[in-house]
Amino acid sequence: MTDSELMSLARSMLERAYVPYSRFPVGAALLCADGTVYTGCNIENASYGATVCAERTALFKAVSEGHRDDLVRLAVTGNTQGPCWPCALCRQALYEFAPHLELLVGDREGRITRTTLDRLLPNAFGPKALASAAE
Ligand code: THU
Repeated sequence: MTDSELMSLARSMLERAYVPYSRFPVGAALLCADGTVYTGCNIENASYGATVCAERTALFKAVSEGHRDDLVRLAVTGNTQGPCWPCALCRQALYEFAPHLELLVGDREGRITRTTLDRLLPNAFGPKALASAAE
């Protein structure tokens, strides 16, 4: 799976986004080490706080199908002029399972910005921090 193929899958999810409130569709595609891809879109709710982002939709699909330590690369995109950066909640959710995840961040022109979760979430709080607390 090439980067542009993964980004195309993310882009194809824009039409599945349920965004009656924000009108801001986001699509995601998460690649696992065995080549499996889990896609996601944002799914909004009349109770706004119940909205789920595209990246977490893809993440939860992957984890619920048994993938944890084998998440390799996530593509995320929107109809934005510049890169459609993952929100802080999604960065945190992804960090739990894939602290070194590779990220492809797209824009409406199809341009790809490559980065990693390490760079987007420095000094992150994660499972090790909980385990290191004194009894
Ligand atoms: N959204 C995502 O799907 N991913 C992000 O990382 C940022 C925000 C969605 C949530 C909501 O449906 C809309 O974009 C506007 O915030």
